[in-house]
Amino acid sequence: MLKKSILTMNDLTIDDVNLILNDALLFSNSFKDWQLSRKRLIANLFFESSTRTHYSFNSAELQLGANIVDFNAERSSLNKGESLYDTVKTFKSLGYDAVVIRHEQDEYFKELENIDIHIINAGDGKGNHPSQSLLDLYTVYDEFNKFEDINLLIVGDIRHSRVAHSNMYIFEKLGANVKLSGPEELIEDENRFIDLDEGVKWADVVMLLRIQFERHKDQIGINRDEYLEKYGLTKDRYKMMKENAIIMHPAPVNRGLEIDTDLVEAPKSRIFKQMENGVLVRKAMLKYIFDEKF
Ligand code: CP
Repeated sequence: MLKKSILTMNDLTIDDVNLILNDALLFSNSFKDWQLSRKRLIANLFFESSTRTHYSFNSAELQLGANIVDFNAERSSLNKGESLYDTVKTFKSLGYDAVVIRHEQDEYFKELENIDIHIINAGDGKGNHPSQSLLDLYTVYDEFNKFEDINLLIVGDIRHSRVAHSNMYIFEKLGANVKLSGPEELIEDENRFIDLDEGVKWADVVMLLRIQFERHKDQIGINRDEYLEKYGLTKDRYKMMKENAIIMHPAPVNRGLEIDTDLVEAPKSRIFKQMENGVLVRKAMLKYIFDEKF
């Protein structure tokens, strides 16, 4: 078996990205019921909380006719001191074809390089979230039919966000312009900083991020009561957006913190559309790693 994995967006060429996005589109229409040519065994190993990514992969795998298992970390031999490496090697030994992994450690996958099993990274610490990036690309292309010259404003906790890191890289590579806004201590690249009101007027896509309090080692001075007014999408800022601009958010959303609760399902919001698109894109990622053809 030739091992094919998707660990970061850098692993994919532009041709790979286009193939996955095009296949996702075909899964939405002509190939809705397409299945893998043989039964594959896939284990979903989520060591960190997840609703969308976990159950979106789960749905994609079942729709493709795979046999799947959802690993229960709390009832596994991790409790007896087993390492991540030995856990994944065990799934290989048990006959699994692929694993989908989310883990809190940045680049956890580096220690799995020598295991001959397909790996899809479902999020590593603050590092990468390739399936989120691909579904975000799909959502933007679906809206604007291009990436070139799209103005993408990412707002919020950039420093701790694997979504921001993956998206900054791939959207720029595809010709979009990326600017950042949010609390100064959470912005890594000051050259891309833009005042929020200016940014909202400039953007075609306003991508909001959750403040990832669980990743803040040091207490930072963020006042939850002031956050929406200072750094979030309020109803006043919504009115400043361009006519055709859209709101995106990888979710989970903290309603009333990074976005006014009434805007989560406003006409410009694509937040739930992103989740729908996620299943299509993850089906395409699985087709890609198993090197299957329609
Ligand atoms: N967007 C995202 O990764 O959501 P989950 O943490 O619920 O998987």
